[in-house]
Amino acid sequence: MFETLPASIQVVEVGPRDGLQNEAATIATADKLKLIEALAQAGLDQIEITSFVSPKWIPQLADGPDLARQVMQIDSLSRLQTSALVPNLKGYSAAKEAGLKQINLFMSASESHSKKNINKSIDEALATMAEVAQVAKADGKRVRCYVSVVFACPYEGPIAPQASLDICRKLLDMGVDEISLGDTIGAATPNQVVALIKLLAPEVPLARLALHFHDTRGTALANVLAGIESGITIFDASIGGLGGCPYAPGASGNLATEDLIYMLNGMGIKTGVDLEKLTKAGFLAQEILGRPLPGRYLKARFAECALQEKKESQKV
Ligand code: HMG
Ligand code: MG
Repeated sequence: MFETLPASIQVVEVGPRDGLQNEAATIATADKLKLIEALAQAGLDQIEITSFVSPKWIPQLADGPDLARQVMQIDSLSRLQTSALVPNLKGYSAAKEAGLKQINLFMSASESHSKKNINKSIDEALATMAEVAQVAKADGKRVRCYVSVVFACPYEGPIAPQASLDICRKLLDMGVDEISLGDTIGAATPNQVVALIKLLAPEVPLARLALHFHDTRGTALANVLAGIESGITIFDASIGGLGGCPYAPGASGNLATEDLIYMLNGMGIKTGVDLEKLTKAGFLAQEILGRPLPGRYLKARFAECALQEKKESQKV
């Protein structure tokens, strides 16, 4: 078992975007910045900081341009692979103006989710992605593209893996550097992950594929393991398990970054992330949001810390 584990895994932190886009409360830009700094201090070097989408569609991230400008003014952050979600040329112009080195396009493997999320059919979305990718590549930007609902769509049910293959072929033709396959409603099981990667592998270089699991039904870590065994070495995760797509009913939090790092540490796979510092970032996220977050490791550490504090207070 596990004879071919990779030496290292790239973890892409999406909490400040995928996590905060789904919060009911408005989070202050200064708090978002503090959280991004704490995540960077923990060693995360790829952080999706916000979105440049319509503020009417995602009001929670309406401060995207301001936040990105502030992030890029902090030396330690501007050196990282900071990125933002971009749906069209308007969003790209804002990302370029902020000085981001990477943009993250997004589209869906189902027509219904595509319509609900970006008001475009799959073909219209592909045309827009091509338009933005062309300009971004000419500007020397790194381009990632998410494909959402690759396993199941909240409106259409199960999605055939062939749909992802057709989209991936087109994204590679556009010069997209990395494709992140999204289990947007956290419905996949490990066998489906293995089957999808097996179908894509002959045509899509595995080093350019990432997996993006939401943990709605508790299968995210099992799916990561299936991904690792299939040769994937890039995984998205969100601090504390924050997250969800407002245009995918039932989509709850992403795989928690701390849960992922805990598992990879235990398996001897390097990530460059310090789990104790990451836990502090998780506690900060809880403080900012004013509620406990769903990540399991965070809950366990929170209980341990409370016990430790109690013991120390009894000593005095
Ligand atoms: P639309 O209404 O069809 O677009 O929305 P439009 O071109 O007709 O523009 C409408 C208004 O939006 C106009 O303003 C535009 O200027 C403005 P108005 O004239 O009415 O005042 N607008 C913009 N403003 C700021 N930035 C922009 C922008 N573009 C247009 N970039 C649009 C189309 C794509 C804009 C809209 O549908 C949208 O913003 N959707 C975003 C949805 C979203 O962010 N969903 C969540 C992220 S996806 C996700 O979570 C999944 C993922 O995590 C992976 C996974 O889990 O699977 C990535
Ligand atoms: Mg997501």
